[in-house]
Amino acid sequence: MSAPWPRRPRLVAGNWKMNRTAADGAALARELTALSAAGLPCAVALCPPFTALESVGAVLRGGATHLGAQNLHPESKGAFTGEVSGPMLAALGCRFVIVGHSERRHGMGEDDATVARKARAALRDGLTPIVCVGETLAEREADKTTEVLVRQVWAVYEGLGADSRRTVVAYEPVWAIGTGRVATPDQARDAHRVIRATLDRVVGDHAGEAIAILYGGSVTDKNAVALFAENEVDGALVGGASLEAASFWRICAAAR
Ligand code: PGA
Repeated sequence: MSAPWPRRPRLVAGNWKMNRTAADGAALARELTALSAAGLPCAVALCPPFTALESVGAVLRGGATHLGAQNLHPESKGAFTGEVSGPMLAALGCRFVIVGHSERRHGMGEDDATVARKARAALRDGLTPIVCVGETLAEREADKTTEVLVRQVWAVYEGLGADSRRTVVAYEPVWAIGTGRVATPDQARDAHRVIRATLDRVVGDHAGEAIAILYGGSVTDKNAVALFAENEVDGALVGGASLEAASFWRICAAAR
């Protein structure tokens, strides 16, 4: 099992989504490795598609950049055609796995209970889950942001106990993902405060202070500095801008 994650680390994770073949992913990882030859400004993770985990992992091996996956099945093995389990990801050298991304909640019908099972499976298998939460535009406009965040955080963390400290949260307002419409630093701060207060209540023991909360949704090298200047923002989960080495690297540098 991997070492415990340090208290509220600064982390920038690249979510490549369904982009890059094994060969193209390795090339992108090599570009990033070249840029980071003098050292990383913060903790960095790359989350390629399953099919590129092995080739990207081979490039990252021995370095400080972490490997992460974008999803896992809650069971560790069995008759689940087309699925991939935590032990399979761990065996490829993954440290992280994204769970509850809105593209899975809304596109693949994953509910809170499924996301909670996946987060537990990740922890069981020695992976650090990056737990995504966030409201849709309709929910924000109906003044339901707090309610949605509390419900989504509560579902995953209820009963998790000390394992909570081996998780990372990503606040990803659905209306900001892939839209170019980034949350303002104030909107991110307010949502992160709700999430931290909920973690304190559901886990206890000041867990909210120990768990890193990333912001995700249209993060670019142009807006990252302002987002990271907000004390509540511990890093970023980056989609589109992580597919180009130089822009992703500038976002990592902004998190220093
Ligand atoms: P985006 O995606 O940066 O392209 O908005 C973020 C995410 O979905 O994690």
